[in-house]
Amino acid sequence: MKIYAYGIRDDEKPSLKEWETAHPEVEVAFTQELLTPETAKNAAGADGVVVYQQLPYTRETLQALADQGIHQMSLRNVGIDNIDLKAAKELGFKISNVAAYSPNAIAEHAAIQLARILRRSKELDAKVAKRDLRWAPTIGREVRMQTVGVVGTGRIGRVLIQILQGFGAKIVAYDIFKNPDIDKQGLYVDSLDELYAKSDVISLHVPSVKENIHMINKDSIAKMKDGVVLVNVARGDLVDTDAVVAALDSGKVSGMVMDVYENEIGIFNEDWEGKKFPDARLDDLIDRPNVLVTPHTAFYTTKAVLEMVHQSFDAAVAIANGQETRNLVKF
Ligand code: COI
Repeated sequence: MKIYAYGIRDDEKPSLKEWETAHPEVEVAFTQELLTPETAKNAAGADGVVVYQQLPYTRETLQALADQGIHQMSLRNVGIDNIDLKAAKELGFKISNVAAYSPNAIAEHAAIQLARILRRSKELDAKVAKRDLRWAPTIGREVRMQTVGVVGTGRIGRVLIQILQGFGAKIVAYDIFKNPDIDKQGLYVDSLDELYAKSDVISLHVPSVKENIHMINKDSIAKMKDGVVLVNVARGDLVDTDAVVAALDSGKVSGMVMDVYENEIGIFNEDWEGKKFPDARLDDLIDRPNVLVTPHTAFYTTKAVLEMVHQSFDAAVAIANGQETRNLVKF
């Protein structure tokens, strides 16, 4: 059996080596290049491909794989929102993802950045770098004094709740699917509007499905407390960025954590130093003292990368062998 992997980064190679050593029966070939209609040809002869989400996987890309006789794709990440699922279905693709490589990686990042916003770390760091070592006016707020609204109580939302409860924060949660543990604790509110009205901080942990696109917009922001802090480590298109920029300008939103951005494809995971930055709105957000931008790195830990590599290759082999895999995506 042969598996061909796209977009393999140096930091993934040790985990890949480990997996290969444990699976001598599988021939592994890989490239640094991302999967595109052109590079799909290089997978000829493979039983399956392993990829991660950095580009849209269009009908053209899927067709190019199908032309090589490849009808399976194993993602090393969780999100499937970049895949033309209609085309995948029509072309008879089986797709797997890594549903739980490390919920803690993402939840921890959200919690850390949220605490940094409340303690005004970016402003303090900038002052210290200039050797301005005065306290005032950079006074912070404590996590335990906040009501945090967690939207989405899947794996990541639940770990975030645990972490924030450790800090002593009051939690309110919303999800259309109630989790029994969260329900038992009495954390659910009945509607998003109620969550918006009660929360000092709102953290998003829902997928980018059409009902959720731009759920944070002018109208929903109007329902929030003055000075609310927003945290988005989920998907960029959950947030109408223009609406948030206006709310940051007016002070309605007092801070924003963004690990994802609406137009991040082609911008994040690239080095723009010394080059013309392609997005003026993002440029401005990065410069703001009360906005913490990270380039979709919430997931990026050694544990997560190891799981992403091992679980995606396991799934690719299982699909190629016609076996069950818990990571098969239903679409
Ligand atoms: C995901 O797993 O879906 C992520 O957002 C991480 C990234 C590698 C795309």
